[in-house]
Amino acid sequence: MTATVIDGKAFASRVRDKVATHVARLKDEHGITPGLAVVLVGEDPASQVYVKSKGKMTKQVGMLSLEYRLNADAAQDDLLALIADLNANPEVHGILVQLPLPGHMDESYVLAAIDPAKDVDGFHISNVGLLGTGQKAMVPCTPLGCLMMLRDHHGSLSGLDAVVIGRSNIVGKPMAQLLLGDSCTVTIAHSRTKNLADVVRRADIVVAAVGRPKMVSGDWIKPGATVIDVGINRTDDGLVGDVDYASASQVAGAITPVPGGVGPMTIACLLANTVTACCRANDLAEPEGLTA
Ligand code: GUN
Repeated sequence: MTATVIDGKAFASRVRDKVATHVARLKDEHGITPGLAVVLVGEDPASQVYVKSKGKMTKQVGMLSLEYRLNADAAQDDLLALIADLNANPEVHGILVQLPLPGHMDESYVLAAIDPAKDVDGFHISNVGLLGTGQKAMVPCTPLGCLMMLRDHHGSLSGLDAVVIGRSNIVGKPMAQLLLGDSCTVTIAHSRTKNLADVVRRADIVVAAVGRPKMVSGDWIKPGATVIDVGINRTDDGLVGDVDYASASQVAGAITPVPGGVGPMTIACLLANTVTACCRANDLAEPEGLTA
């Protein structure tokens, strides 16, 4: 069997089109332009690339893009003052503070200062709690993108066995909550899991977010399973995922490639979250198909 390739690049483009349509409607019918503020502290090269790309795509879908840069040695209080301004700014519906922050800053403290209603990353403890209790939350972008692709491929996920490999706050844990919300039977596995291959072999859905190049091999995969590879590992062979694509794609029913799978979905979902936050702030109907 050769797996169906889930094309994340094309999927992300469709998500951005939907966002753009909704943005145009908000402008035409309500005179509202959704706005996203991105804050970058320091000059981390990878972060600069991400922030530039976020700004470009935000404008492409017709939203207001605001960018703020602080020096690497800025005081945490300066960042907190900026966040307070953005919280109070009615033109700003989404706030993203690019991570990682410099070592002298307390990441949890800074994230907790963002208004949860504008927390388009879904990292605020209130949103984590809302998601964990099955309430309406802002949902982290990468797991939201994975969920959208899974729903599109399967229709209903109800009753399926899902194994999430990785327990990070950004991907593994929220991914597990989302799959549970869609009535999967969910196992969270990680680097210390015993007999990991056997655990993964039970899964109808595998989400690999462990950060180890090509760790999940084809003989771990149940024939016909759907494999979502969140890994982005730079190796001598170039960019590879957490899944050994060559062997896994011979066994899986569907699989996301790296690059071109989950990666492009993250920014698309950030834009989706910004429109959702804007609609919620204005008591308007949320865009269909762009939320959990
Ligand atoms: N750094 C790398 N990925 C992300 C992300 O999704 N959100 C934020 N805020 N920072 C990041």
